[in-house]
Amino acid sequence: MLVEEKEMYGKDMLTLLEWDKDEIIHLIKLALAMKTNPSHYRHVLSGKILGMIFDKPSTRTRVSFEAGMLQLGGQAIVMNGKELQIGRGEPIKDTANVMSRYIDAIMIRTFSHQEVEELAEHAAIPIINGLTDLHHPCQALADLLTIYEIKDHFQGVELAYVGDGNNVCHSLLLAATLVGVNIRIATPVGYEIDQKILDQAQKLAKESKSVIQLTNDPVEAVQEVDFIYTDVWTSMGQEKENQSRFQAFAEKYQINEELAAGAKTDYGFLHCLPAHRGEEVTEAVIDGPHSLVYEQAANRLHAQKALLALTLEN
Ligand code: CP
Ligand code: NVA
Repeated sequence: MLVEEKEMYGKDMLTLLEWDKDEIIHLIKLALAMKTNPSHYRHVLSGKILGMIFDKPSTRTRVSFEAGMLQLGGQAIVMNGKELQIGRGEPIKDTANVMSRYIDAIMIRTFSHQEVEELAEHAAIPIINGLTDLHHPCQALADLLTIYEIKDHFQGVELAYVGDGNNVCHSLLLAATLVGVNIRIATPVGYEIDQKILDQAQKLAKESKSVIQLTNDPVEAVQEVDFIYTDVWTSMGQEKENQSRFQAFAEKYQINEELAAGAKTDYGFLHCLPAHRGEEVTEAVIDGPHSLVYEQAANRLHAQKALLALTLEN
C-alpha cells in the first residue's frame, strides 16, 4: 500500500463533517505529497472505477476527478443524471444498490443535499459530494490545500468570505473551523448562511479555537485578513433570482481594489470559479497579482486524488 493509512477506507465525503481534524490534515498533507511526486502514486487505484453523476454543469469537478482517477491508475465513468433512470424517477435506494455492484465509488453533483445523503445511506461504496445546493466539500479541500501551501499552517490564519451565504461559503466555514482558521463572513441581509451549518461550525470552532465572525459589512470583514474569498451572487439553479440578487449585492459586495485595500498587503484572493468579472470581483483583482484562483483550481486535482486514494485504496 502506498497510502498507508487504512482508517479512511470506505468513508463518504458529504459535508466534511464525516471527517475529523486529523483526517483532514492528513488528507491535505497527502495531497501535497502527491502534487510533489505524482508518479509515486500512479498505480494506487489500479482497477478501481469512479462513477460521476452530474445534474448540473461542471468544468473543474468533472475534469479534475476524471484526470485524478486516471493519474492514480483507475478509471471514471461520467453520467448525466437526466439520462439515468433516476432522472425518470427510479428510487435513489435502487440506484445506490445497483451502482454499488458495478463501481467502487460515486461522485455526485446535484441540487438537493438530502438526495446525496440518501444515496450514501443505501450505497455500499463511498459517496462523494461534488456540489449540492448546501455544500461543496471538495472545493473546500482544495481551498485548505491552497491556504496551507502558502501559510504552512492553519491555526490563526485570517480568512474573509464576502458574498452569498451559499454552498461554497458553507463548506469553507466548516473547513476553516475544522482546522483552526479564523473566518469572517459578510453577506447581505437575507443572504446569510444556513443556521444549522452555523451551529455545526460553532461546535467545531470550540474544539479548534477558530473564531467565526458574521457581519453585513464587507469593509469590516476584510480588515487585515490573509485571504479574501468570494463566489458568484447567483448559484446554479437560482437563475430566476438573478436580478434581485444583483440588486442586493452590487452596491457593497464586489471585491475590488478599494475593498481589498483593507486586507493585509500580501493578501491572497480566492474564488472557486467560474467567476463573473465585473460582478462579484473586478478584473483588476481576479487577474491581478494577489489572485490565487488558478492555483486553487489546480489544487482540486491534488486534494481529490488524496481523497480518492484514502477512501478507495485497499
Ligand atoms: N469550482 C467548481 O466546482 O467548478 P465547476 O463547476 O467547474 O466544477
Ligand atoms: N455557488 C456556485 C458554485 C459553483 C462551483 C454554484 O452553486 O453555482
